[in-house]
Amino acid sequence: MRDQAAELRRLVAKQEPSSRIIAVTSGKGGVGKTNIAVNLALALCQLNQRVVLIDVDLGLANVDIVLGISPKYNLGHVMQGEKTLREIIVDGPLGLKIISGGSGITELANLSGWRLEAFVASFEQLNEEFDFVILDTGAGVHRSVISFVLAATDVLVVTTPEPTAITDAYGLLKIVHQRAPQAKAKLVVNMAKSPAEAEMVAERLNSVLREFVQWEVDYLGYVLAEQHIPRAVSQQQPVLLSFPSSMSSRSIKRIAGVLAGEDIPNRSPGIRGFFARVSGFLHV
Ligand SMILES: Nc1ncnc2c1ncn2[C@@H]1O[C@H](COP(=O)(O)OP(=O)(O)O)[C@@H](O)[C@H]1O
Ligand SMILES: [Mg+2]
Repeated sequence: MRDQAAELRRLVAKQEPSSRIIAVTSGKGGVGKTNIAVNLALALCQLNQRVVLIDVDLGLANVDIVLGISPKYNLGHVMQGEKTLREIIVDGPLGLKIISGGSGITELANLSGWRLEAFVASFEQLNEEFDFVILDTGAGVHRSVISFVLAATDVLVVTTPEPTAITDAYGLLKIVHQRAPQAKAKLVVNMAKSPAEAEMVAERLNSVLREFVQWEVDYLGYVLAEQHIPRAVSQQQPVLLSFPSSMSSRSIKRIAGVLAGEDIPNRSPGIRGFFARVSGFLHV
């Protein structure tokens, strides 16, 4: 009897996936997505969250570089059917799990139906194992980027205070809102000169969104422009580990705290829903 109850609980738990899928994205390139994705993932690990970081940037798979790792296999091998997802997950610092992108992800849009299904199915196994799935996406409104953005539970848009970056963030958010009005959009302002400047950027973006799209992003916080980040990149060690008490590290920890503390009752459709939606989008 007790065994049956345990089995039931297991089944119920299975139907209520708990992973939050956060797509870290931007309108313009080079705004700090990869650094924010990697360090945010690590900061969530420090908060005892189970985190997997997946590099889904098409052209510029940089997660490996920022972390100073060189995994032998990547998503391309999974898509080719040479490896299972489990076989390509590597261990990073602080218990972080990493799935490397490589160049394989470009093939996602061209996968035939059954191979895409198999790929989707292979991701479902992650659902029970992780609290957070962090996706480091490419920039812009390319179909392959948008597919991941739309399919995530949370879209974390990174912008700098540059007018071009803000304009491109707006362009991206407009598309996200058109395609997925239920999406929860969050904003991080990177490379700001001051907290006040970052706040102004958030307010400017939100006032345009309110006026033209009747929408808003949830301003999560800022990371100031600081030499520790480029220095950490050249050492191939994330800033959170190489300069833990830098302003950047503290800002990222604060953002992780906000994310981990959010109450999301039954909002997350989980990984199953996520990849089903990616596949639905790509087949449109
Ligand atoms: N807060 C920051 N302060 C200073 N330089 C930064 C900051 N964030 C990122 N950078 C630098 O900007 C460049 C782009 O960062 P990256 O994370 O690769 O951006 P993206 O993934 O959006 O292309 C890198 O050289 C990085 O060192
Ligand atoms: Mg990047």
